[in-house]
Amino acid sequence: MITQKLIDTARTLVAGDKGLLAMDESNPTCNKRFAKLGIPQTVEARRAYRELIVTTPNLGECISGVILYDETIRQQKKDGTPFVKVITDAGIIPGIKVDTGAKDLAGHPGEKITEGLDGLRERLAEYSQMGARFAKWRAVIAIGDGIPSRGCIEANAQALARYAALCQEAGLVPVVEPEVLMDGGHPLERCSEVTEQVLRTVFNQLYTQRVMLEGMILKPNMVLPGLTCPQQETVDEVADATVSCLMRSVPAAVPGITFLSGGQSAELATERLNAMNVRFKSRLPWELTFSFARAIQQPALEIWQGKEAHVLVAQEALHHRARCNLAARRGAYNAAMETT
Ligand code: 13P
Repeated sequence: MITQKLIDTARTLVAGDKGLLAMDESNPTCNKRFAKLGIPQTVEARRAYRELIVTTPNLGECISGVILYDETIRQQKKDGTPFVKVITDAGIIPGIKVDTGAKDLAGHPGEKITEGLDGLRERLAEYSQMGARFAKWRAVIAIGDGIPSRGCIEANAQALARYAALCQEAGLVPVVEPEVLMDGGHPLERCSEVTEQVLRTVFNQLYTQRVMLEGMILKPNMVLPGLTCPQQETVDEVADATVSCLMRSVPAAVPGITFLSGGQSAELATERLNAMNVRFKSRLPWELTFSFARAIQQPALEIWQGKEAHVLVAQEALHHRARCNLAARRGAYNAAMETT
């Protein structure tokens, strides 16, 4: 029963050329983004912003699932309607971020381990009761001098696998997110090498922890040159490197791969996703789509600025990015869409 439910949910999340919208910023991260724009860092401002997102008209045409944060899954619209109901009524599947953040990994300067396994079984049961049907856990891998270390990759991969197994036990589809960061001056080849090593280790651990691959989603980074690397490859080169890396390391039983945006500009993230689908869609064993936070939300957040009068225009900007990414998923995005 649970097995079929997991498979159905995972497939639905990546069906119909749609993708995921991550709106699961922790309070500190959300506050940081608000502070940059002079928006008050209050519970009410965060609630109002999340209301703006989930009430965006026709969001369900492009978005199959949204990832919420603990504070948000418990919140309501101003009129008292719970966000989970608003989301479900829009034909979108509610999900929840369940890790409790990345902390310094002991003995490994410059590296992080994601926490949140203690008490996770109980938290998953509560979220499931509240209507969540999938979950997310993000591990962070930095590239630098002598890092990532084996110790960091293995510890994070094992935590991801234990989280994924607990999710499946609770009937929630795990979105497994090992993020290789784009910070640094490393070349694309180095990102490719590290991403492949990380993904191979993650899938070994998922196998060891008996995670059913048909009932999960992988949320990786794209294979990119470091942000400050002088050589920045073309969109097509990034698409080729990313797909080759994934083909080598992600089993065909996984129904879908949903990229994080990781700090790429909204348009570049869309262009790169589009190029992957243009060049490879008919040959891929899994669906290739998006689970962006910043690359969908940022333009809308900048327009909103915490002002009620800006809500409608901000919602249009959010819907526009969602539509562009839906097109990218079909390999049908082009720059002209940005000016219409
Ligand atoms: P970005 O798309 O902003 O990288 O966020 C995705 C996400 O969910 C990070 O955990």
